Amino acid sequence: TEYQAFSHQILTWYRENPRDLPWRGTDDPYKIWLSEIILQQTRVAQGLPYYYAFSETYPTIKDLALAPEEEVLRLWQGLGYYSRARNLHACAKSIWFEMDGEFPNTYDKLLKLKGVGSYTASAIASFAYGEVKAVVDGNVFRVLARYFGIETDIASSKAKKEFEALANQIIPKDQPGEFNQAMMDFGARLCTPKNPGCESCPLKASCFALQYNIVSDLPVKINK
Ligand code: ADE
Repeated sequence: TEYQAFSHQILTWYRENPRDLPWRGTDDPYKIWLSEIILQQTRVAQGLPYYYAFSETYPTIKDLALAPEEEVLRLWQGLGYYSRARNLHACAKSIWFEMDGEFPNTYDKLLKLKGVGSYTASAIASFAYGEVKAVVDGNVFRVLARYFGIETDIASSKAKKEFEALANQIIPKDQPGEFNQAMMDFGARLCTPKNPGCESCPLKASCFALQYNIVSDLPVKINK
């Protein structure tokens, strides 16, 4: 089908062009969660040193749970949005002291953690547990809007549902985590907001936006 062709091309591109990121080599849900909280309002380049600092200072959820709050906040200094650090610490304590140290292991359970929304829960569930849940963020909006020619205003309330439904149809059931990471990297490195690499894109023959010369018009975002 068209969806299989799409996911196959994205995965093939990713195998040849992956970003080498330290949280990619692990299936430890704690480390993956840590990376996703850091990356919520932070770019990869800015988040990297904090990921290293936290994963070295607190290699396990126990280490983070037992750390003094002010030490955690000090280590977070410079990243901003301190509620992330407070939620991180509160979650670690709750998992360590109230859940026998067992990291929540499904999308629905992950969603109940403070500071974990649908994007972060999908990322952790797919990367750590192979659960079939598509991540949908700005990168995914852009790639799907362009390739499939979707003109829904991405600032509208129905956009998230529409793109989530589509992404969840496309995501291959046998490699959901790989696919999600591939979409992140494809959007960050090739199908970029400005100057996208359409010339070298493996999807160029079938991309709706490229065919109709409207790549720079998609995704549609109407400022409110
Ligand atoms: N942004 C959010 N999560 C990410 C991840 N796992 N890799 C790269 N960028 C991200």
